[in-house]
Amino acid sequence: MKACFIENFGGRDNLKIAELPKPQADDGQVLIRIHAAGVNPVDWKIREGLLKDKFPHRFPVILGWELAGVVEEVGANVSRFNPGDPVYAYARLPEIHHGTYAEYIALPESHPARKPEKLSMIEAAGVPLTALTAWQAIEAGGLQQGQSVFILGASGGVGTCAVQLAALKGARVIGLASAANHAYVRSLGAEAVIDYQRGDFIQSFGELFPDGADLVLDFQGGDTLARSQLCTRPGGRLVSIVEEIEESVLKKRDVRFTYVFVAPNAPQLDQIRELIDADRFKIHVAHSFSLDEVAQAHAQMETGHTRGKIVLRIA
Ligand SMILES: NC(=O)c1ccc[n+]([C@@H]2O[C@H](COP(=O)([O-])OP(=O)(O)OC[C@H]3O[C@@H](n4cnc5c(N)ncnc54)[C@H](OP(=O)(O)O)[C@@H]3O)[C@@H](O)[C@H]2O)c1
Repeated sequence: MKACFIENFGGRDNLKIAELPKPQADDGQVLIRIHAAGVNPVDWKIREGLLKDKFPHRFPVILGWELAGVVEEVGANVSRFNPGDPVYAYARLPEIHHGTYAEYIALPESHPARKPEKLSMIEAAGVPLTALTAWQAIEAGGLQQGQSVFILGASGGVGTCAVQLAALKGARVIGLASAANHAYVRSLGAEAVIDYQRGDFIQSFGELFPDGADLVLDFQGGDTLARSQLCTRPGGRLVSIVEEIEESVLKKRDVRFTYVFVAPNAPQLDQIRELIDADRFKIHVAHSFSLDEVAQAHAQMETGHTRGKIVLRIA
């Protein structure tokens, strides 16, 4: 099968495209013919070796953790799927070796869910990793109807999902994004958007919401994460998907911090599909590339300024 993989860690020059053996569906697995694969920041981080201490890697490493496609074969003891079923999946496995930048992947049947009918394969491929991350970050933050949430990185892959899911919960949503994306973030359900490129975002937030937010969701990390604790109300919550924060950085404020790393979860993907098919949740694919253009896709991802998603067309 055709696949994009790396044989060493490094830059975009390390991305190779060649034939690799087609996997098979073992017991409890489904073999999926991949039509499209979502591109995420984690893909270039794996390419650079930034996750090598977190997960075991085995070269060649096929990159990519997100897909839409069709079940081609089912292994023994598979009960949820049949050949021909359209699916989408967050495809992270315990070992980093088989990814979704390829024509096929074998996954435990617990990973995929039925694909939303309203979406093309290209659109559906951009949903699972990002929407599950947003879902699980909002859950970790315990967001309730009527509460306020400040979303840092509101216009990116995860941010656009989090704005919509938080608004669907009946929360008051405030986003942080560059000015060019403010109308877009508002159209997703934010009542206000702050420009991180104009003045101090902590001050701008404090002027609009002097009581602080019930929850801050950090999709940026670094200094933005460290300073964002100043936007929580006393007793509020701070959730980051980018990095842990040291106790000493929390400045002994009354804020509860949680780091979230997204886990595969088909029942949650089922709920997200229902929202999509009911026209209550949408996905914006900003760029799609062929598998041969994978280096361009990574270059765009590495800008850190993509509105919505990037997707690779595979079949
Ligand atoms: N822990 C997990 O499970 C998990 C899962 C998914 C992603 N992540 C991580 O979460 C981060 C975000 O992922 P993503 O897919 O949403 O990335 P993305 O699609 O590249 O989005 C980044 C967004 O951040 C905005 N941004 C850039 N600089 C900013 C700043 N200084 N302040 C506020 N916003 C800024 C950009 O908006 P503008 O274009 O408006 O500047 C852009 O839309 C990445 O580090 C990724 O690796 C972690």
